[in-house]
Amino acid sequence: MFMIIPNFPHMLHGGDYNPEQWIKWKDTIWKEDMRLAQAAYINTVSVGIFSWSTLEPHEGEFHFEWLDEVLDMCAEHGIVAVLATPSGAKPAWLAQKYPEVLRVNERRERNYYGGRHNHCLSSPIYREKVSRINTLLAERYKKHPALGLWHISNEYGGECHCPLCQERFRQYLQHKFQTLESINEAWWTAFWSHTYTDWTQIESPGPLGENGLHGLNLEWKRFTTEQFVDFYLCETKPLKEITPNVPCTTNLMGTYPGIDYMRLAEVLDVAAWDSYPRWTSRDDTVLGARTGFLHDLARSLKKKPFLLIESCPSATSWQQVAKLRSPRLHVLQSMQAVAHGADSVQYFQIRKSRGGPEKFHGAVIDHEGSEHTRVFHDVQDVGRQLSQLDSLVGAQTPAQTALIYDWHVRWALDDANGFLQDKTQYEQTVIDHHRAVWNQTIPVDVIDSTRDFGTYRVLIAPMLYMIRPIVAERIKTFVEQGGIFVATYLTGYVDEHDLTFLGGFPGPLKELLGLWCEELDSLFPDMENSFEWQKKTYKVHDFCELVHLRGATSLALYEKDFYAGRPALTVHPYGKGKAYFIASRTGDDFLESFYQYIAAEASLNKALQSPLPEGVNAQIRVTGTDTFIFVMNFTHEKKTVDGGSAGIKILDAFETWIIKKPHSSC
Ligand code: GLA
Ligand code: ZN
Repeated sequence: MFMIIPNFPHMLHGGDYNPEQWIKWKDTIWKEDMRLAQAAYINTVSVGIFSWSTLEPHEGEFHFEWLDEVLDMCAEHGIVAVLATPSGAKPAWLAQKYPEVLRVNERRERNYYGGRHNHCLSSPIYREKVSRINTLLAERYKKHPALGLWHISNEYGGECHCPLCQERFRQYLQHKFQTLESINEAWWTAFWSHTYTDWTQIESPGPLGENGLHGLNLEWKRFTTEQFVDFYLCETKPLKEITPNVPCTTNLMGTYPGIDYMRLAEVLDVAAWDSYPRWTSRDDTVLGARTGFLHDLARSLKKKPFLLIESCPSATSWQQVAKLRSPRLHVLQSMQAVAHGADSVQYFQIRKSRGGPEKFHGAVIDHEGSEHTRVFHDVQDVGRQLSQLDSLVGAQTPAQTALIYDWHVRWALDDANGFLQDKTQYEQTVIDHHRAVWNQTIPVDVIDSTRDFGTYRVLIAPMLYMIRPIVAERIKTFVEQGGIFVATYLTGYVDEHDLTFLGGFPGPLKELLGLWCEELDSLFPDMENSFEWQKKTYKVHDFCELVHLRGATSLALYEKDFYAGRPALTVHPYGKGKAYFIASRTGDDFLESFYQYIAAEASLNKALQSPLPEGVNAQIRVTGTDTFIFVMNFTHEKKTVDGGSAGIKILDAFETWIIKKPHSSC
């Protein structure tokens, strides 16, 4: 059985804990923290995330006594410590003495000291200081009974354009391209006469210099990802040597565009992410679906249970509107993560800070300080429910459907000029397709185009604009062997260097889809076209691809404009499978009907067979013996739900119903 923390077969419940802010008051506050943690069924705390200046107040002068005490306290109270490396924010002395650790922005201005997440990833001094303190932490706590997991840094992000990073970027390019000739070709530098004749002429992209070479922009993103991978490996090297049995993770941020998380995930032991949906406490179905997509993505990074490592138990301090949660909404958000594969519910933060920018950010323990608050009771409720879910630990999500969300495609589409400026909306489009599948309670993995497709029946790839090497071949094999593939407009335009395919789009997928696209029409916001499919008319907007059939069959025809009568939806049998092409951007109505059709065609598994009322969703997880179905009402109204063999139940506003049954009764 998979356990996030070895030998700890429980759902994790806890969050970021910053006792260093309260050292002066530890006799009262720390004791109270432990009492309250136990009252809230908290069994993990993340400590040390922003503790560097308390651990090393002056260069080389270390103070671990307070952390010893905190970890001892945790162990006494049966709480596992998720121990952080402190690299997410650095002490003032470090920046003052070694200015090279300060980040340089894209305008080549070096930051002053302040904030967080603002160090240079190349700086040998920063790496050395981080390695040193990480080594000391690992040595000191390697045998400590509270140590369960390493929390590496905090929300890796941003980029640095300093001379050290420029040098590493050039090394990365030399290693990848070998010759300037191949770079010039891949980046099409003859355009505007930007041909490079010396490696030192290459600089990171920025507003004051080169920013029109799409190949350069892409490689800079890829390089930045590799910088984080390398920095993570540098951080974890001593931890892996000294505490080989303690897993490592870092907290990710959904679809944060600056790092290819699919790549970063390769070096993580377990995936973890920080989820902060902007719940309105009204009808939150669309947001629920979006959050479900992000959980599916987090789970698919390692294809095993993940950590919901941060969430807010009430209102955040940074969202536009700090709306309080309706009763049961906190439990719903927590159980939704679990329903999609999380084996933890953790918060930012356990105790509210007294000062600083997050002093009004939701926390388990409010400034008032007791267990007699509504939020505390909500947290207790989640903890109580998680404490009864030991048998869920390690449960898998039985996805037969995969949806492609690919960072490289996103980067290329964000850069693409032409089409519809600002309306390319790659992420939103992927989420729209996901929602149509999610609404049917079909479990779905969110993967990128480099992942294995072999285990799925249906592969959905909205706007797969960039086709990376051997991806087309792998999709063809998938369909040949019986898979169903769904592609859309804006597919197969460019290769991995952002160079267009010659000979017609969708480049290497033409044969599989049995068509080629001659032109793409981009519509003004007030324009639409339409097509009829299965006796229903569907409106389309934004994009209409004009295709020529080369073996595919047309299932629907455009009804307007000069291309009325030309194919708007096609299918092409290929080997034992089929490849569908949706040529235009449709509304949700079409996506709903289309994916119901696909689900029936592929006999896709669902969490619940009977249709659910609007705003109610169900997700499924399975262990060797049991099936768990989570039925969730994302609306502020009561809903009547048919839970199959579990019977009919009326769900209150935002209520969650967990059905557990042995496999035989499914
Ligand atoms: C992020 C950070 C936390 C905290 C929260 C507030 O997720 O990791 O340190 O700032 O946001 O929502
Ligand atoms: Zn740098």
